[in-house]
Amino acid sequence: MTPLAPATFHSVSPADLTPAQWMPLLGGAVAPRPIAFASTVDADGRVNLSPYSFFNVFSYTPPMLVFSPVNRLRDGSEKHTLLNVRAVPEVVINICDYAMVQQLSLASAEYPAGVNEFAKAGFTELASDQVRPPRVAEAPAAFECVVEQIVELSQGPGAGHLVVCRAVRAHFRQDILLPGAAGIDPYKLDAVARLGGDWYSRASGASLFEVVRPNRRLGMGHDQLPARIRTSNILTGNDLGQLANVEHEALPTPAQVEEFKTEPMVAYLLNKYPAGAPDQQQQLTLLAQQFLAEGRVVEAWKALLLG
Ligand SMILES: Cc1cc2nc3c(=O)[nH]c(=O)nc-3n(C[C@H](O)[C@H](O)[C@H](O)COP(=O)(O)O)c2cc1C
Repeated sequence: MTPLAPATFHSVSPADLTPAQWMPLLGGAVAPRPIAFASTVDADGRVNLSPYSFFNVFSYTPPMLVFSPVNRLRDGSEKHTLLNVRAVPEVVINICDYAMVQQLSLASAEYPAGVNEFAKAGFTELASDQVRPPRVAEAPAAFECVVEQIVELSQGPGAGHLVVCRAVRAHFRQDILLPGAAGIDPYKLDAVARLGGDWYSRASGASLFEVVRPNRRLGMGHDQLPARIRTSNILTGNDLGQLANVEHEALPTPAQVEEFKTEPMVAYLLNKYPAGAPDQQQQLTLLAQQFLAEGRVVEAWKALLLG
């Protein structure tokens, strides 16, 4: 990999910026973020529905989800969702897909307390099984939760509150499930996420890709790659990551590398760029890179070991 030119950084400490200056930097850099579409009720049972992208899942056993209503920057006042979960510690966290994103955004408008954003944004209420807030019928998945804890991170404008939620019941729309209880089909989920400013991203089509998990085996690691591969000015960091994810024992044997010479594409290359020709190494590296782009890591290794 070609050494990177040293980047320059804008470095800041908390006191250097106001909350309003931190907002676009934090929201823009910690991105994309999943979105909790949180349904709550107040003490009188009035329903509220608002999106929160300071959100994630933090435990399988029990299933725990956490989101954070942040005090309004304008006046430091608290969000209705926070007031509601203090009064009635229950919430439904609905997951949103691309088909709902414009309506979800509408539900983030600052309607007065007691206004039901299901009605304002045009969503359908479905009664929950175990908690008082209703869930969003249009959502591809929803988690009925009890609120275990509310952690006040600080006070004043921009202060966050971790709402720690334990899911007591979950709903997954049938069509998003992979066969054999293997999880969720990301293409069917068509998830959206929040970035900084008005930006969102959609997890679909070519933006979805797989990376082979390293914990299925113990790859040799970047530091064990032969120097001529590690310092190649053709192979990228992603290429090297794939190569280093192969364990030593799984590398092709010399006999397999030898046999590889008879593959038509390889035979053609070796004929055109014979041993000792200045370009042979480069051509084999480019071929390896092509294999890596197709996820054919063993073939990539064979091409590199031929050099
Ligand atoms: C996609 C999206 C994500 C949001 N994430 C957050 C968040 O994580 N924390 C927050 O305080 N406000 C967030 N907001 C803004 C709230 O949704 C907005 O302040 C809303 O009016 C709060 O409603 P409530 O006062 O009825 O709870 C987000 C808005 C959108 C559109």
